[in-house]
Amino acid sequence: MSAIDAGQRRCRECRELLLIATTAAREAAALIRERAPAVGSIEWRKKGPADFVSDVDTAAEHAIRAVLDREIPGATVLGEEMSPNASVDAGVAFVVDPLDGTTNFLHGYPAYAVSIAALADGQLAAGVIVNVPTGDVYAATAGGGATRNGEPLSVSAIDEPALALIGTGFPFKDLHQLDRYQQQFAAITRRTAGLRRAGSAALDLADVAGGRFDAFWELRLAPWDYAAGALLVREAGGVVTDLSGADLPFTPSSVVAGNPAMHAWLLRALNEP
Ligand code: 2AM
Ligand code: CA
Repeated sequence: MSAIDAGQRRCRECRELLLIATTAAREAAALIRERAPAVGSIEWRKKGPADFVSDVDTAAEHAIRAVLDREIPGATVLGEEMSPNASVDAGVAFVVDPLDGTTNFLHGYPAYAVSIAALADGQLAAGVIVNVPTGDVYAATAGGGATRNGEPLSVSAIDEPALALIGTGFPFKDLHQLDRYQQQFAAITRRTAGLRRAGSAALDLADVAGGRFDAFWELRLAPWDYAAGALLVREAGGVVTDLSGADLPFTPSSVVAGNPAMHAWLLRALNEP
């Protein structure tokens, strides 16, 4: 098979995987939306310091798995609540965050999402993020571009730090990273137009892909927080790496994303002593 044939076959598979992931993400978003008005009576538990899970997270992951198992029996699922250690290196695998921004959801703060990425033999093939409160659907396939509600998405053209709006996430679990983060926070605040932290990394990456943020960083994210968003950013013309500039590993990692100019600048600025 020629390289072109292989690429076309691969892209067809990407679109099929995107359809499946989108069906699953929309079902989960509907379930979460239905339960949002009763948020005060929802059962929630502490998984660790400042880390919560509710019955809604688990029900959403069950709903997603039911769709994925029906459509591709035997596919691997790396899911935040039910299988956080699954390996995604071979075959078809889905990386699932049934509710990104659980803390926001539990407080009625409207920034939470469903995020699903599909991988083929360890490579990102498709990704979808549904912003639950607004209903916006962000989608991407490898080599096929990124969209919001079907309209093409593109990263911003801003390349001057002083004009740039930067998204971020604060350390909340690994508090030993706080000193380092505070130094970075001070350096980036001094040199840019502003920083924003809403509490859903998936939506932050979607906002880099759509050009609302010019760049984003966080010192530690799980693969389900960043997998779909990373593909969106790349397909919208942006760059995503870890803090050393290396490719993301699908294990917990730092994440730096942005349009090409602002990604390069932020990576340098964050690594200055
Ligand atoms: P989660 O809601 O799926 O756990 C941003 O910092 C990321 O960290 C979010 O995508 C969020 O994903 C996760 N997170 C978990 N607990 C958090 C908390 N207490 N505050 C902020 N983010 C949290
Ligand atoms: Ca998450």
